Amino acid sequence: MKVVVVANQKGGVGKSTIACNLAVAFALEGEKVLLVDADTQESSLSFRAMREKDDISAIAITKPTIHKDIGNFKNFDIVIIDTGGRDSAVFRSAIMAASHGILIIPTLPSVYDIWATEDTLKVLKDARAFTDIPAYLLINQVIRAKIVREAEETLEELARQYEVEVLRTRLFSRVVFRNSIKEGKSVLEMDDEKAKKEMKALYEEIKEKLFS
Ligand SMILES: Nc1ncnc2c1ncn2[C@@H]1O[C@H](COP(=O)(O)OP(=O)(O)OP(=O)(O)O)[C@@H](O)[C@H]1O
Ligand SMILES: [Mg+2]
Repeated sequence: MKVVVVANQKGGVGKSTIACNLAVAFALEGEKVLLVDADTQESSLSFRAMREKDDISAIAITKPTIHKDIGNFKNFDIVIIDTGGRDSAVFRSAIMAASHGILIIPTLPSVYDIWATEDTLKVLKDARAFTDIPAYLLINQVIRAKIVREAEETLEELARQYEVEVLRTRLFSRVVFRNSIKEGKSVLEMDDEKAKKEMKALYEEIKEKLFS
């Protein structure tokens, strides 16, 4: 069993969108997937409720026991954890659970969002005092490549400082990311070829990190 934690204390960076899309990506490959919703907003649980296919299981854990509960999920191949957008004991518990896999920290490609992401990297640093946690920054909702280049420098600097890597895959801002969620579907199940290609690339890159 491997764990993928999607976390950033910054709100609205795409944590739930990415967690749900990854859950489906693994399920489409025949993996037994558990989606853990650690956010009281319950975005991931709502996604599961909207989804017609029964190929992913979803549960809520909103108490700081996630890192302990993980041991009970050994009958799943992949556990994806979607966190809430604020620091809390639950948030820290989810970060600790990433020691059983990897931590993905989505950020928007704006300097403000990148600065705000440092709070999460500080939590990661605290957690790393106890256990090894491989962590990766993911640029989401790119509008124009040029803007990304400006933000990239700030992001790379932060990545170096906190010993994390920036994933080479980045997700562009696409309407299909919004619309697919409402239907309980991944973009992999929609007709936008560009979004599909991006999500497939993200899935492959994450798999490579998870099993390396
Ligand atoms: N690549 C994308 N392209 C277009 N829209 C996106 C993309 N990623 C996320 N969104 C949209 O941005 C909004 C925020 O995304 P999401 O809810 O996944 O973020 P979050 O980090 O989980 O937020 P919260 O902190 O509130 O839990 C949503 O409306 C979602 O549909
Ligand atoms: Mg969310």
